[in-house]
Amino acid sequence: MTALTLSTAAATGLRADAIVVGVVKGDKGPVVAHGAEAVDKAYDGKLGTVLETLGASGGEGEVTKLPAPSGVKAPIVLAVGLGGEPEKDGAYDSEVLRRAAGAAARTLAGSKKAAFALPVDDAEDAGAIAEGALLGAYAFDAYKESAKDPKDGKGPLAEVAILGGKPRDKAYKAAVERALALTEELNRARDLINTPPNDLNPESFAAVAQAAAKEHGIKVQVLDVKALEKGGYGGILGVGAGSASGPRLVKLSYKSTKAKKHLAFVGKGITYDSGGISLKPAGHNETMKCDMAGAAAVFAAVVAAARLGLEVNVTGWLALAENMPSGSATRPGDVLRMYSGKTVEVLNTDAEGRLVLADAIAKASEETPDAIVDVATLTGAMMMALGSRTFGIMANDDAFRGSIHEAAEESGEPAWPMPLPTHLRKGMDSSTADIANMGERMGGGLVAGLFLQEFVGEGITWAHLDIAGPAFNESAPFGYTPKGGTGSAVRTLVRLAERTAAGDLG
Ligand code: BES
Ligand code: ZN
Ligand code: ZN
Repeated sequence: MTALTLSTAAATGLRADAIVVGVVKGDKGPVVAHGAEAVDKAYDGKLGTVLETLGASGGEGEVTKLPAPSGVKAPIVLAVGLGGEPEKDGAYDSEVLRRAAGAAARTLAGSKKAAFALPVDDAEDAGAIAEGALLGAYAFDAYKESAKDPKDGKGPLAEVAILGGKPRDKAYKAAVERALALTEELNRARDLINTPPNDLNPESFAAVAQAAAKEHGIKVQVLDVKALEKGGYGGILGVGAGSASGPRLVKLSYKSTKAKKHLAFVGKGITYDSGGISLKPAGHNETMKCDMAGAAAVFAAVVAAARLGLEVNVTGWLALAENMPSGSATRPGDVLRMYSGKTVEVLNTDAEGRLVLADAIAKASEETPDAIVDVATLTGAMMMALGSRTFGIMANDDAFRGSIHEAAEESGEPAWPMPLPTHLRKGMDSSTADIANMGERMGGGLVAGLFLQEFVGEGITWAHLDIAGPAFNESAPFGYTPKGGTGSAVRTLVRLAERTAAGDLG
């Protein structure tokens, strides 16, 4: 994990491998952003011109590496684009700073120490830069023997110093502490998502959750196959039936003595989704280790809430199973008796996420939390609708859906509200059971949402986040987002918990 400090050192005198400076897109070419005045001065005030000569514009996401001039101790200056000049009072958007810091930290992989001389106007800016740098420095090379050779290996940037803040100021300290706890848990979620499914199964995932919960004073309970059978969790058992690794339901309870509200987070934790008997074709199963990203997000959010001491009770439910075809697997045509007592005709074993979630949502409802939020890589349809960077928000309450959308925006996570049109319910009518696990193909993401809604306890506020798009980045890294597991929804959940603690549930 990358170390991070706030420093009052002068950018020019600091011993580091690189100084990171911001550059904005001015009317007449790139302009050095404030925070890097001394560095610009060492270039005789011509850093902007030098960058322009090199073809840089200051556009968002742009990174330019330059040799440092004499008068700057670090050998390299790394200029990161911040986009257009900030509109009012010179304040930069948090997400702009987060992304720039992330791109810089990623570019500096292999370096020991970097000083970030980006514009810092308040504690929020320092927190955003810290968050971006710590997320951008992330690398998953646990399975790369080649990366372990110090000659070829490029470990993540080891140390970040943020300049321009007030290290002794309470608000600054808190912002950095928050960034450290949040990113450490988010990066752990990324690790879990990236871990290959031959090493991460329901049992090993539950063990990781158990260990972390113990470390942070969170109560943890793991239901194994026997306990699930006794409890009548037909959905979770049905999905896990074909696998050699049995399913689990993990409950994590974080309690604050000052809590006035209780949130329940429910995560889809399919450690591998082969599709089951309705097997996915090649081309659709290579990344399906990511199908537990919802559970990873819930896990990370509960631990982060505990580490931050948020004044709200948060219960996390991880519905863990491996969806495999075998002689013991659930067949298309089988009927499952769910935890809630409802029966479900399984028409497609690849629509398994809603089955494990239905049991966990019904169980979570028994505690009558103030709200339930489930998070899931649920449908390819949601990916079709919103692309690979935006998650969909569905809810049985407009204000709550709006509140989650705001939490997402405040966190820098692209999200969009989606409807739950009731007319789509009849497509799931089953001639044999209470409901089928599939409906109309068109609007498949909404159909899945409607299915889940049937398992939410009477009168409970509920929202569903379909993160199938943003959970796993198959394209090139961007900003603070790496290839592979992204940690989607972790920051939104933590922000929602913070808002709830502050009395703003929506
Ligand atoms: N895990 C998949 C959804 C998914 C697709 C996640 C792509 C991430 C990337 C889910 O279990 C699934 O297979 N859903 C089916 C449902 C259908 C059979 C009703 C789908 O979306 O095709
Ligand atoms: Zn599936
Ligand atoms: Zn799935």
